Amino acid sequence: MRMGILTGGGDCPGLNAVIRAATKTLLSQGVEVWGFKDGYRGIYLRDCQPLDRKAVSGLLHLGGTILGSNNRDNPFHFPVLAASGEIEYRDISATLLENLNSLQMQCLIAIGGDGTLSIANELCSRGGSIVGVPKTIDNDLAATDQTFGFVTAVHTATEALDKLHTTAESHHRVMILEVMGRYAGWIALWCGMAGGADVILIPEIPWQIDRVVEKIRGRQREGKPFSIIVVAEGAPAPGGKQVVREQIVGSGDPLRLGGIGEVVRILVEKETGMESRVTVLGHIQRGGSPLTTDRILATRFGVAAAELALEGRSGYMVALKGTQIVAISLKDALKPSNVHPDGQLVHAARAVGISFGD
Ligand code: F6P
Repeated sequence: MRMGILTGGGDCPGLNAVIRAATKTLLSQGVEVWGFKDGYRGIYLRDCQPLDRKAVSGLLHLGGTILGSNNRDNPFHFPVLAASGEIEYRDISATLLENLNSLQMQCLIAIGGDGTLSIANELCSRGGSIVGVPKTIDNDLAATDQTFGFVTAVHTATEALDKLHTTAESHHRVMILEVMGRYAGWIALWCGMAGGADVILIPEIPWQIDRVVEKIRGRQREGKPFSIIVVAEGAPAPGGKQVVREQIVGSGDPLRLGGIGEVVRILVEKETGMESRVTVLGHIQRGGSPLTTDRILATRFGVAAAELALEGRSGYMVALKGTQIVAISLKDALKPSNVHPDGQLVHAARAVGISFGD
C-alpha cells in the first residue's frame, strides 16, 4: 500500500513533526510513504519523493517543512503558461486526481489551513481520498480547539513584547507591535496578555483612538509615561476597513493584510504628542523550532491522521477537542474561529487593566 503527504498554505512550526509522526505510523504498518513537493503543485507535476525512516529522522524540532509549501496555487484556479505565452488560470483538479491514481496513492494526508483543507474537501467530493491535518499560526479554525504552530508564534511575539517594554520605558514612548493572525485576533490577544500589553486591538472588538488615548494618559497620570500596544494585522482602521499590504493573484485568499500598526502609530503621536514607534513582527512568527506543546500536538495529529488513512476514513480531518484528538468531517471543518468579545479571555484581560480601545 502507498500513501502521500503534502504541506500547503503558509508554513508554521510543527509541520515537520506531523510529517515525521504520520510517516513513522504508516511505515510501521508496512505502508510506503511519498512526500509531494510544494503543496498541490507537487501532485500536478508528479514531483514527489519516498519518505523512509532516514528521511524523517531529526525532524521533530525543525521549523518549516521539508516538503516545501505554497499558499498561491489553487488547483481549481491554477496558473498555467498557455501557448500564447500568457498565464491562464485553469481547473487542473482532474489531472491531480488522475496523478494520485496512477501513482497508486491510496490516500493523501494534506496538512494545511482553511485554503488547503477546503481544496481537500472539494477533491474528496470529486473522488479523491484525503485526510486533513489543520495547521496555522492564526488558530482560526473553529473545528479544533487549537492548531499547532499557534503557541510558538505567540511565544515569539511575547518575547518581542518583553524587549519592547524595556526600550519603551527608557524613552518614554508608545511602542506598537503589529502581529499576524489574518481575520482573527488570537495571536494579538494571547501575546498581549502574556507580554503585559496596555492596549490590544483586534478585529473582533471595534476600537476608537479616543479610548486608546484615554488609557495612555491614565498611565501617564499613574507615573508610567510609556505604553505598549499590540495590534492584530486584521484590526480595522478607523472607518472600519482592514489595511491591505498586497493582493496575491490566484491565491485562495488573495488579501495579505499589514500596515495597521503604522496607522495606529500616526494617530497615537498626533493625539498624545508622545513619541511612538511601530514594529511589524511579520514572518518571524512563522519560523523557528516548535515549542514543546506544538511538538506534542503535531505528533498527535500526525499519528491520528495516519490512523484515519489506514482505516480508510477519507474526507475527515483530525482535531483537538478538550484533551482528545477526534475526527471531524472536512465539510464541517472549515468554519472560522474568532475571539469572543464577551468570552473569558477578554474578560480576564480587561480585569487586569488591558484596554481593547472600546
Ligand atoms: O495564515 C498565516 C499567515 O501568516 C497570516 O497570519 C498572514 O496574514 C499570512 O499568512 C501571510 O501570508 P504570506 O506568507 O503570503 O505573506
